[in-house]
Amino acid sequence: MNRDVSTSLDMTGEETPPLEKLRGDALAQITGAADERALEEVRVRFLGRSGSVSEWGEKMKSLPKAEKPIVGKLLNEVRRAITEALDARTQEFRTNQESAALESIDISLPGTPHERGTLHPLTQILDRAIGIFRRMGFALAEGPDVETEWHCFDALNTAPDHPARNEQDTFFLPDGRVLRTHTSTVQIRTMESAPPPIRVIAPGAAFRRDEVDATHSAQFHQIEGLYVDEGVSVADLKGTLEFFLRELFGADSQVRFRPHYFPFTEPSFEIDVKSKALKGGEKWLEVCGCGMVHPAVFEEVNKVRKDQAYDPEKWSGFAFGLGMDRLAMILFGVPDLRLFAGNDLRFLKQFA
Ligand code: PHE
Repeated sequence: MNRDVSTSLDMTGEETPPLEKLRGDALAQITGAADERALEEVRVRFLGRSGSVSEWGEKMKSLPKAEKPIVGKLLNEVRRAITEALDARTQEFRTNQESAALESIDISLPGTPHERGTLHPLTQILDRAIGIFRRMGFALAEGPDVETEWHCFDALNTAPDHPARNEQDTFFLPDGRVLRTHTSTVQIRTMESAPPPIRVIAPGAAFRRDEVDATHSAQFHQIEGLYVDEGVSVADLKGTLEFFLRELFGADSQVRFRPHYFPFTEPSFEIDVKSKALKGGEKWLEVCGCGMVHPAVFEEVNKVRKDQAYDPEKWSGFAFGLGMDRLAMILFGVPDLRLFAGNDLRFLKQFA
């Protein structure tokens, strides 16, 4: 006689004891389940609330005391066997699904590399410049590239016969408008739209019919600045621009103010910088035009504003126009500004 507990437990008198048969049926149906849905049905049939295994749990209650632990142990074994078989079969389905999905992909192929871009050197210098001026309380202003002749010249106290208006220097559009020759147009637009005090910078493109060479281009970039308040003096102008240039180029760069002439400022200056980064620091490079806002500019603005907001007796101010491309030449030691527009990756990658 087989002494195995399971076989000795014959409650119905059938040849195969019912719990053994239950296990055999369950395992056969699990193996035979065609998909996860069929498998779930098998699980409910055997392990569900009113499934066969649960029914056995009920039956146990009416068994003689002596048999309860034996049947209980066997029932636990059967339940565990069915549960494990269900888990294994589920895993099998999932693995098959995954490998079917992967069949259409060759995971051994090399991927598509993503090149990391870098900011253009002019964008880098712009970000740094904005950062420095922002610390000094300057806000950002802007104006259009295509401008009226009035904003570009008349409002800036530039006489009708001034050489800058000449076709040689300025791009004229058929409708009489111009591509702005400097960002000083934004001085006027800012004052038209708001009363003093004013403290703005306006970075942007400017256009001139210049011969293109290492330091000149038909399109270049400027950072305009305008500061109008009570009691603004040349000392403020010098202090602000010296601070800016030292912050940008370092304390060992040299800065020089030269008297100059602009119709819209009086007195006017040009600023030169000498820095080791450019040609070993042996040459001055002009980077900025600036000066104290001419009273005639305030008066012109008052005329279009139709008020006396910019009373030259009360307010004074300074303005400047920094050549951004030249600042970048100095900071990055680039000897020719044409490189900035050349779109040559070998050049651009050096500013990563
Ligand atoms: N607009 C002048 C130029 O482009 C520079 C400048 C700006 C000068 C503001 C004085 C004040 O050369």
